[in-house]
Amino acid sequence: MKKVTKAVFPVAGLGSRFLPATKASPKEMMPIVDRPLIQYAVEEAVAAGVTDLVFITGRSKRAIEDHFDKAYELETELEMRGKMDLLKIVRDTVPSHVNCIYIRQAEALGLGHAVLCAAPVVGEEPFAVLLADDLLDPQGDLPVMRQMVDVYNYNRCSVLGVMNVDREQTKNYGVVSTERDSGEIQRVTGIVEKPKPEDAPSTQAVIGRYILTGRIFDHLRQLKPGAGGELQLTDAIASLLQEEAVLAYQFKGVRYDCGSKLGYLQATVELGLKHPEVGAEFAAFLASRGS
Ligand code: UTP
Repeated sequence: MKKVTKAVFPVAGLGSRFLPATKASPKEMMPIVDRPLIQYAVEEAVAAGVTDLVFITGRSKRAIEDHFDKAYELETELEMRGKMDLLKIVRDTVPSHVNCIYIRQAEALGLGHAVLCAAPVVGEEPFAVLLADDLLDPQGDLPVMRQMVDVYNYNRCSVLGVMNVDREQTKNYGVVSTERDSGEIQRVTGIVEKPKPEDAPSTQAVIGRYILTGRIFDHLRQLKPGAGGELQLTDAIASLLQEEAVLAYQFKGVRYDCGSKLGYLQATVELGLKHPEVGAEFAAFLASRGS
């Protein structure tokens, strides 16, 4: 039985909605309180049993590589100053049993192209895809990718994380149609990228969490560029589901779209309020200004 041990993190997008913050560093390095977005996603993948992290990087990739690498000078300095708690934080960005693999996407030709860049490392195995700008705060103890791996292990087919959105919002997402109108796990019958509200087949939007079988790569290879001249992962999934089952899973948790300014601010407030060090003081601050 093939397990999900590899996760792909496409981090080669332009991040244009956050310019100039993303001029010299990737948007996935933007922090929510004290951890960069990419670290939240990596922790979610590791908690789901992933042991190989495949980063699809582009320009200004150094910051992400450095973040998950050993930081000799900083660690020596912290050790000399006796700051052992900070030393542990710096060393624990990724557990020792986990491998980091970096693949360069020379041109930002779309999410589908970014995922295809992982084919030589992933091979035929099922794998996870996490878009770090979607930050998922789970409801209950199980991180969202863990929930999805459980669904995969039971059903042995591709699983898309979905949530309900307002109909006016469908133009911002991939949207699925399913065999039934509701239910936590449903079989996908169709998927379209960014449909107009009046054309959307449903209001179930795909968010940045996927488990895909290795078959997706053949479908990506055969794809012609779609919307915006990019290779769309959505189009490859539409083709995959002609051949094998694909499930939509209504995850348990709250999703923050940290690729948008509003979602980023919302995540900062909500995770700031939960933060063990500053949460209580931050709550008092917000209350004092009547928000
Ligand atoms: P987005 O659609 O959010 O695009 O990509 P973007 O370029 O990152 O941000 P904006 O819209 O310009 O502000 C979704 C995810 O796919 C990755 C991005 O890094 C992001 O995680 N991506 C996108 C790639 O890795 N390569 C691509 O060619 C396109």
